[in-house]
Amino acid sequence: MAIIAPSLLSADFTKMGDEVREIQNAGAKVLHIDIMDGHFVPNLTFGYTMVKALRPLSSMVFDVHLMMTHPLSYIENFAKAGSDVITVHVECDDDLKACVDKIHECGIKAGLSVKPKTSPEALFPYLDTLDHILVMTVEPGFGGQSMMPECLDKIAVIKAACQARGLTVPVMIDGGVNAGNVGRAAQAGADMMVAGNAVFGAPDRAAALRALTEGAATAD
Ligand code: DX5
Ligand code: ZN
Repeated sequence: MAIIAPSLLSADFTKMGDEVREIQNAGAKVLHIDIMDGHFVPNLTFGYTMVKALRPLSSMVFDVHLMMTHPLSYIENFAKAGSDVITVHVECDDDLKACVDKIHECGIKAGLSVKPKTSPEALFPYLDTLDHILVMTVEPGFGGQSMMPECLDKIAVIKAACQARGLTVPVMIDGGVNAGNVGRAAQAGADMMVAGNAVFGAPDRAAALRALTEGAATAD
């Protein structure tokens, strides 16, 4: 059954601590945390001090998505701040093997992400080193965009490549997930799905999270 990971980007920034507690009480097991550097993407969010501040409030898996041109020198700080998983982009300018190795040296899980226009083959050289893969289903940078459904086709390509290598690497999708497309995404093979607006933007977050989880399960 696919796991829904609410994205902190769509939370109310005036009360982050309360938002994290609320979403955990609503049943979330994984919190997706988007870090944007204003260069890799045309937007800024927050840094590792936010991760550090929120860590004592929650036992959720902190899934940190680094949308940064140069993530390598920040990995250790994000790990020390309490990240459980760190994902960097294949399109970044740092050495990808060095990034993945650094994340593992910090004792946490490593992921690589592909933007919509990047071919999934870009991931292939690293598959045996990865704990998860993040397929962007919107151009990264902003919450609340519409899903690009054609990106879902990458999941099967990635899974076939993993299978050919005797690997099982979970695939997560990120961007535009909502109650109307969650079933299709699950059918396409997504093991985890980030949902920002569809959860934090809902009047009843617990109900929204439940509806997405059930919507994904109907495709099983
Ligand atoms: C987009 C971020 C996403 C974003 C998803 O650049 O990486 O994680 O928070 O938000 P929604 O679900 O609203 O598209
Ligand atoms: Zn993200």
